[in-house]
Amino acid sequence: MNTHEIRVTGDGSKTIFLPELNETYHSSNGAVQESLHIFIQNGLDLVKKKGPIRILEVGFGTGLNAFLSASWAEKNNQPIHYIGIEAKPLPPELCFQLDYPRHIGQNTEKIYDELIHCDWEIENQLSPHFSIHKKEMKIQDFVTEEPTDLIYFDAFGPRVQSEMWDITILDKMFQSLNSGGSLVTYCAQGQFKRDLKAVGFSLESLPGPPGKREMTRATRI
Ligand SMILES: C[S@@+](CC[C@H](N)C(=O)[O-])C[C@H]1O[C@@H](n2cnc3c(N)ncnc32)[C@H](O)[C@@H]1O
Repeated sequence: MNTHEIRVTGDGSKTIFLPELNETYHSSNGAVQESLHIFIQNGLDLVKKKGPIRILEVGFGTGLNAFLSASWAEKNNQPIHYIGIEAKPLPPELCFQLDYPRHIGQNTEKIYDELIHCDWEIENQLSPHFSIHKKEMKIQDFVTEEPTDLIYFDAFGPRVQSEMWDITILDKMFQSLNSGGSLVTYCAQGQFKRDLKAVGFSLESLPGPPGKREMTRATRI
């Protein structure tokens, strides 16, 4: 039985479907469109910092969010240091088949290739402004070494993986952020938002990507 299936989403970009969980890695309305809207336009574009930006991603998956961030770093001449946490890394050959560089722009093949093939557990300087440290571990075991400026919270949904949305993890996310730093996610569920408030976040409910009414940005004031 196939453990991973490749599916084409509404904007023509591909994602992975996991039959075991009946869940896709991205929105079926558009994988690239969703990542750009939630993590870049409502996350990275809004970070106001002169020095290197530190990003923590929960659920590195296909590397799409890291790829968009690396492209952003070079376009804006803004150094980014990225930490990608992933409990079950995907085979690079599978990620390669998603053909993401075709959607992101010319001359981006090399950086995506390096992103999915670079070693785990070490620092990799992939381009002049982008370095990444991929960590194979559960977020439950992650300990912050240096505070971060932005968190991409991209876990599977509460319906299939409720433990990822537990208040203890949200508290850990809050403690990992610099003051003024934000967490962005596609999730806008009521209990999730109440828990974010309870651990100290200040919330904004923003319009979601096409096909989704709302998304969440939570800031540590
Ligand atoms: C929605 S997908 C991530 C999509 C990804 N950001 C991308 O652009 O492809 C959720 C990811 O979280 C990972 N995951 C599941 N449990 C986890 C855990 N306890 N800690 C860290 N990552 C986990 C899954 O293996 C999966 O890759």
